[in-house]
This record gives sequence, structure tokens and C-alpha cells, in this order.
Amino acid sequence: MSAGPLKDSFGRSMDYLRLSITDRCNLRCVYCMPEGQSGPSSQLELPQIERVLRVMGSLGVKKVKITGGEPLVHPDIAQIVHLAKNVPQIQNVTLTTNGLLLDRLAEDLIKAGLDAVNISLDTLDPSRFQYLTRRDHLPEALAGLDRALGSGSLAVKVNCVPTATSPFEDLLALARLAKDRPLHVRFIELMPIGLGLGQTRLDPEKLMALLTEAYGPLTPVDRQLGNGPAAYYSAEGFMGKIGFISAVKSCFCERCNRIRVTPDGYLKTCLHMDRGLKLPLDDEANNDAALAEMIQKAVWNKPASHLFHKQDEGRGENRLMSRIGG
Ligand code: 5AD
Ligand code: SF4
Repeated sequence: MSAGPLKDSFGRSMDYLRLSITDRCNLRCVYCMPEGQSGPSSQLELPQIERVLRVMGSLGVKKVKITGGEPLVHPDIAQIVHLAKNVPQIQNVTLTTNGLLLDRLAEDLIKAGLDAVNISLDTLDPSRFQYLTRRDHLPEALAGLDRALGSGSLAVKVNCVPTATSPFEDLLALARLAKDRPLHVRFIELMPIGLGLGQTRLDPEKLMALLTEAYGPLTPVDRQLGNGPAAYYSAEGFMGKIGFISAVKSCFCERCNRIRVTPDGYLKTCLHMDRGLKLPLDDEANNDAALAEMIQKAVWNKPASHLFHKQDEGRGENRLMSRIGG
């Protein structure tokens, strides 16, 4: 079957799927997940995942990012990576993780064909980590980072979401990881979604000024690293780059190439808005061709952009970020 490509009514093509396989997590980051369970948790099962990947591949999806919640708590994570890598059209399979289970799982994930990991890390300070994630697991996260780097076969990025209350020394220490180690550090602007609505974002310009003061001028990198929305900079003497993903400050919706599937099987056509389609993944009456057609129709109706600046219109997303995967 070859049904692709996936286009929307604004002329954008979607070739990048973010697949959130579980909304469970072994941390409770304050801007992402409440301490207690809020409603039943969901998880995509292997046959559903296989179907999503097969149909998305036929629709021209070339890159898959596996997200959560925390994707490494899914019992079948290595098999999921393997499945994704074996869809002929899918060239690149990566995941976003908090790193806690990476020390244990990296070998299996690499064997399964994983290309890269993004490790979410907001501080290198143990007490601040405990405050931000409500868990005392910084050593595990750092062991995961070391393992991923030490493997030599995974590309590694560190993602940090700074808030207005992040101590500057935390952010400088995180940026410094890109000086001493072969990885890129990206600062993701806090988005007003879920618990993020209750936090204050740090202005990326302020952060840029802070980094410049500490590490010297940041030079924009021309060639686009990856195909994502990050703007990358190099700093003198740094092994890796510093990236900024600033969806609120500088909207990159015009270039959007991504769609999302949530752990309850909902195809989300925009990160911010509740627009999409509940995929009938278990319904035998819908064959792959019918499913592909439904996906094409939903993607055609993808919104033009987020409405971060018009929250009051009530069209924003009500899901927690742990059910979307960023
Ligand atoms: N704004 C921006 N990023 C967020 N994440 C979670 N909540 C938010 C938010 N409100 C990030 C996490 C992780 C990724 C999955 O999404 O820090 O890096
Ligand atoms: Fe794309 Fe929606 Fe994100 Fe904008 S908000 S970049 S349209 S997914």
C-alpha cells in the first residue's frame, strides 16, 4: 500500500511522527505531571503501535520520535524501536527520555536500532532535581546520560525547560555539558499547556544574554541540524551546540512537519489544539487503507498554528503534557 504523502490545507507536508506510547512516568516534573494519578493511565500496545507505524510509513512518515510520559517504562520499548526501524519508509527512530532507565536499557535499544536519544534534564543539582521532579533520582539520570554517550553509537541531546525561577547557575551548568561532552544542549521554552500554565517561562532572550556573558558570543549555525525547530548556536571551545526551541516567542508553525499520536490512540494534528481523530486501531472493520484515508483527512484539517497568545478563547489543549509527549 502506498497512500502518501500527508499534506495539510496550508501546503505543509508531515513526515515526522511523535508517538507517545505511555502516559506513565517515573518522575513527576512540576510543569508536566501532578504528584497523584489523575484519571486512568493509558498505554499503546504492540499490535496498535505496529499498525500505526505501518500506516504512517505508507503515508510518507520518515522519522519517528518515541515519547511518553516516560517511554522507557513501557515494558516493550526495545521491541517498539525494532518495529519502527523495520518499517521500510522509516529512516530515523529516536526517543525522548528522562534517562533514568537508560543505563539499564541502552544496549537493548541500540541493538533494536535506535538512532538517537534526547535526555530531558533541567538541573545538575541534586536538591533542585528533587524539587523539580519530586524524586531523588539524579544519579540514575546522569548514569543514563553517561551510558548513552559511552555507547558511541547514539546521538545525544540534552533538553532543558527553564522557568523564570531556574537558578542561573543551573542553566549555565547544563549549557556547559555541551562544552565538555559531544552533545547538544537545547533550551525549550516553557509552553502554556497543562501544568505549564501554572509556571512562568524564562524569556529566551534573557537566557541568551546570560549564556553570552558566561561563555562568550553565540554564533548562529547556518546548516540546519536535524530537521526540527531548534535554532542552534556555537560557542568558542564547545564540542556541541546550544539550541533554542522557542515556540512561544518565535512561532515556527509555518514550517511544521509533525503529527502526534497519544497513548489513547488519538491522532493530534497540533500540539496546542485539541484537533484530530481517535484512531480506530482495534477495529478490524477498518483496514489499513481506510485508516490511512482517515489520517489523511484529519491531517488536511491541521490548524495553521498554535494559539498560545489567545488562551482565553478556550481552544487550547486540556491534556497534560505527559499525555502528549512534547
Ligand atoms: N513546555 C515545554 N516543554 C515541556 N515539557 C513538558 N511540559 C512542557 C511544557 N509545558 C517537556 C519535557 C520533556 C519533553 C517531553 O517535554 O521537559 O523534555
Ligand atoms: Fe505545529 Fe501545532 Fe506545534 Fe505549531 S503548535 S508547531 S502547528 S504542532
